Amino acid sequence: MIIDGKKTSEKRLELLKERIDESGLYPRLATVIVGEDPASQMYVRMKHRACERVGIASIAVELPGDATTEAVLEQVAHLNHDPDINGILVQLPLPRQVDTKTVIEAVVPDKDVDGFHPLNLGYLFSGEPRFVPCTPGGIMTLLDEYDIKCEGMHAVVVGRSIDVGRPMAALLLNADATVTICHSKTRDLGAETARADILISAVGRARFVTREMVREGAVVIDVGINQDEQGNLCGDVDFDAVQEIAAAISPVPGGVGPMTIATLMENTFEAARASACGRVR
Ligand code: GUN
Repeated sequence: MIIDGKKTSEKRLELLKERIDESGLYPRLATVIVGEDPASQMYVRMKHRACERVGIASIAVELPGDATTEAVLEQVAHLNHDPDINGILVQLPLPRQVDTKTVIEAVVPDKDVDGFHPLNLGYLFSGEPRFVPCTPGGIMTLLDEYDIKCEGMHAVVVGRSIDVGRPMAALLLNADATVTICHSKTRDLGAETARADILISAVGRARFVTREMVREGAVVIDVGINQDEQGNLCGDVDFDAVQEIAAAISPVPGGVGPMTIATLMENTFEAARASACGRVR
């Protein structure tokens, strides 16, 4: 079975549009982008387009590539205090001279629709998530939409980043899976991945996960966005070989990527709803 993230995200966006229409709210997202990295610019454009589709207003704050940490913090502070802004997304990666950790921690947690603030990560790890990082959140939605149950399953996450691997593991644990987190220092990685009922790869290396590393009948979710030697877009997983033995597999493109954006839209609506009813945790 191919897990179609494009189709699922379309469905979720349609549903969200209806919910926003019915709510009478007019959620507003601010994106902050520093520099002119073409990939980041493209991602931000896609986020604004999705906003338009579902009835979320959006503004773009653009800073030059040589902006200082203080200049970025100034913009974040301005957005934090603007009562008309419900969600703030600082596009990552930031240029080297900008202190990413300080910027992430500067976003007021109530508007942290990326879910990267330590307070929101803490809520997630304590089993009571508020804003969940968009990529792992989108993966949980995908599993749910395809009726893939996590309870009692052995889930193996490859990658331990703050934006994907760690929150992914927390979400799977919250859903009653038995979770193993693997990373670059893991001994005999292939033996670990081969034990997975649900395998999530967030490594960032083209076709890193081979058929030998996957158990027959496993569910395989590919978070990678890589280029192969020919410059073609591909995931972390050797899709052609692995799809022959996997029970279900998400492709790249058209798998996890669209779900990240759909989850960002859902988080922004949640932020607007929370602020409208004065819900502060
Ligand atoms: N860069 C790549 N993915 C993401 C994401 O989910 N959020 C932000 N802010 N930046 C990213």
